[in-house]
Amino acid sequence: MKKILLILLAVFIIAQFIRPPRIAEPVDPSTDLIAVTRPDAEVEHILRTSCYDCHSGQPHYPWYNAITPVNWWLHDHIVDGRKHFDASTWGSVLGYERDHQAKEGMEMMEKKEMPIPDYFYIGRHADAKMTEAQYDKLYAYFESLRDGSWDIEKARRKAAGEGK
Ligand code: HEC
Repeated sequence: MKKILLILLAVFIIAQFIRPPRIAEPVDPSTDLIAVTRPDAEVEHILRTSCYDCHSGQPHYPWYNAITPVNWWLHDHIVDGRKHFDASTWGSVLGYERDHQAKEGMEMMEKKEMPIPDYFYIGRHADAKMTEAQYDKLYAYFESLRDGSWDIEKARRKAAGEGK
């Protein structure tokens, strides 16, 4: 028994040297969602505290990011989150892709699916939890960013048989 515990401890210690890269990209004011869309102070605050940690190139890492495998789990959330919606590249993607992300943003706020619930399990991010009024506020913000170009692109793809 003691031997197994020692082996597990050794594996844990060795694992500490296997870390994901730390994401810390410079903010590009010509593409950053907040810089480009200039929302009011409250929307900016919600975006920064509740969304940017998974959907931008400037996540704030909590102290437990120092622990493998927690850091890999956080890293995967950021990589996966940015694939769907990336606030840092907002200004550089095609117009209909922006419209698509805004549409998904409205949907997420309506169903209250974001921030993903995992986020609350660990105390530090309690401030990311959103109130009813904040969900409404962000919904209206995403709605204001829409221009309908995604619906046109979607219809075009469907007509061309290209799928989604
Ligand atoms: C803890 C990490 C995390 C936080 C914080 C977070 N998200 Fe996400 N988000 C994800 C992940 C992971 C995905 C992709 C997988 C999924 O849809 O569950 C995602 C997907 C999305 C999508 C795409 C959904 C789709 O169906 O394509 C949108 C839009 C989105 N998030 C918006 C937001 C907004 C707005 C906030 C802030 C209110 C936010 N997210 C906060 C992790 C996060």
